[in-house]
Amino acid sequence: MANDFAYDFRPATATSGKPDGTTGYIEYFQARRLHALQHPATDAPFEMAFLVSSQVMELYFGLLCHELGRAKLEVRHGDVPGAGRTLRRSLGHLRALEATWESYEDMAPSDWNPIKAHLGHGESSSVHSFMYRHLVFLLGLKSVQMLEPHESTPLIHQGLKEALHAPSIYDEILALLQLRGLAIPACVLERDFSEPYVPQREVEQAWLRVYREDSFADLRELGELLTKFAQHFNQWRQGHLTATVRTSGAKPGYYHTEAPVWLRRNNEQPIFAELWSARTAM
Ligand code: HEM
Repeated sequence: MANDFAYDFRPATATSGKPDGTTGYIEYFQARRLHALQHPATDAPFEMAFLVSSQVMELYFGLLCHELGRAKLEVRHGDVPGAGRTLRRSLGHLRALEATWESYEDMAPSDWNPIKAHLGHGESSSVHSFMYRHLVFLLGLKSVQMLEPHESTPLIHQGLKEALHAPSIYDEILALLQLRGLAIPACVLERDFSEPYVPQREVEQAWLRVYREDSFADLRELGELLTKFAQHFNQWRQGHLTATVRTSGAKPGYYHTEAPVWLRRNNEQPIFAELWSARTAM
């Protein structure tokens, strides 16, 4: 049977999504639906890889939001070992997310241009990845401006607005440090969480005590897990920047400026700032 989509060479009977019998495997993993979700629109050889690996990345963004949502609750309930397990598991997801760039290893401008021509220049952009935005808000990279691309999708916009105003995983952990007797200033704990985080000397001092005093060994473990989280997330961002420059150079993007300049500025925003700056004094 011919596939409904001219540029799809997968087995048509397995990917059509048409009603059929079922099995436990198909139902649990929604395999039929999953394989019916890719509709290449061009004959560019790279498009299927672009579709699938982008969808995989989207799923990982969602998975990481799920894990960070759980870790926030665990921290709030004082379950430090539970939060540690969740963050350790997340590091595995992050490494897998990073590895998805392998599928782009050979993508040249001539591979990307026909796909981009179909998507449209300027108007179509991954800044509409609402799950990524949820993820970076959970990591504490708050920006009211980044709600703008979601204005045409009111429910998503509303969800992101709530996430913007909610404490990040770092905010929850700083509140825990305070509960454990470390001095965290009120301007951190009681601030407007929708504002970008401003690093504080007192928070750096608190992390220094966590890293020096044995009674805080469990918090030090959390600090190390957060640091690795930021490290792997940054590596994903760097992989994205490399793929962008390799396929598009400095072409302007959604914001009509040189895309790499915009991306580099974002990538330079530190995640869990004092966990990095405190290291100078360690
Ligand atoms: C060759 C492939 C790719 C190119 C050329 C590319 C290019 C860009 C550009 C130019 C931007 C800046 C915003 C804009 O101007 O649109 C951007 C942002 C973004 N892209 Fe990609 N991208 C690629 C692949 C991907 C993939 C596979 C994903 C994962 C789903 C992704 C996720 C994102 C995200 C989340 C942002 C927002 C980043 C931020 O807020 O800092 N991109 N991309």
